[in-house]
Amino acid sequence: MFFEYADTGSWTSSTYKRNENDFKSISFRQRVAKNMSNRNLRKIIIGEDINIPLVLSPIGICGLQYANGEILAAKAAEKKGIPFTLSTMSICSIEDVAENTSKPFWFQLYMMKDRTFMDNLIKRAQSAKCSALVVTLDLQVMGQRHNDIRNNLEAPPKINLNTVMQFVSKPSWCLNMMTAKKLNFGNIMGHVTNVTNLSSLASWTADQFDPTLTWEDIAWIKDRWKGKLILKGIMDSEDAMLAVKAGADAIIISNHGGRQLDGAPSTISVLPEIVDAVNSKIEVHFDGGIRSGQDVLKALALGADCIHIGRPYVYGLGAKGQEGVEIAIEIIKKELDLTMAMCGETNISNVGLHNLHHNPFKIIN
Ligand code: GLV
Repeated sequence: MFFEYADTGSWTSSTYKRNENDFKSISFRQRVAKNMSNRNLRKIIIGEDINIPLVLSPIGICGLQYANGEILAAKAAEKKGIPFTLSTMSICSIEDVAENTSKPFWFQLYMMKDRTFMDNLIKRAQSAKCSALVVTLDLQVMGQRHNDIRNNLEAPPKINLNTVMQFVSKPSWCLNMMTAKKLNFGNIMGHVTNVTNLSSLASWTADQFDPTLTWEDIAWIKDRWKGKLILKGIMDSEDAMLAVKAGADAIIISNHGGRQLDGAPSTISVLPEIVDAVNSKIEVHFDGGIRSGQDVLKALALGADCIHIGRPYVYGLGAKGQEGVEIAIEIIKKELDLTMAMCGETNISNVGLHNLHHNPFKIIN
């Protein structure tokens, strides 16, 4: 049920599949006899010097993919010199991750109705020295994901015939989970009033995502959060301009990995028009459909400043914990480095449209 939670889109999963498939129609411009030595993948992103223009996206319930999953993913990111983003809906709390890592991580915020809880959560991210706040804007209401309905997904999982059958068939997962510090939502449990047991926590979270969220709430957040602010879930040029106006340091072009509005375009297909609209006023980050370092290079060539990955690292985490996340990052890094070299480019900051041979996603003015 946890693999299926990660490996799903909403409804027919058409946007989930489109995110991946649209990369296939882009081709690289191959160059030869250029000096390809001394390649550099480092980049400054929102003022942070990172080893690869890659960020680990916020993913809910990582700590149920692998015991203490969020801590392990954060450690892997730290080792590889890239940022890790902790989800509001994580199993390990902000404090758990801060205590077990030595570099600042980013924190992702969902706007919830309980503003006292929100105020407190922002303060906790500040105390943990998180270096950026990533506010997700595309989950005011939740997309319907059929796998999760069929599996009756909850954190921690409910005990019934279906879940018991799944546990019996996955003994190593069960053994691994016995080493988990927590099995429920660490950022929430113990920090909200009127939640005393797990069933009330489930109804609290289901009830709490705020459908009234507007740009005024971003101003409310900015009054409280003085650090870097990144707005996630932008798919439209007009919304990108509003994000610039709201004072964001960066946006993330994202359709939530195809998990929210099924039928939305792929993220790669809207990237050029959003880059054009933002016109270098703030950074444009990108996620959705990235499965290789080659995809990373394509999105950078179309104008993204930096790329966020979710599923590629969570599969690594589920398979092998911290080592699995490190392997996933390393595979992507190697693919990115070699592909960049074969395109005749040595510095990641110089990658651009000139590195593409065929790009079907041109801006139509
Ligand atoms: C939460 O962000 C989800 O997509 O499940």
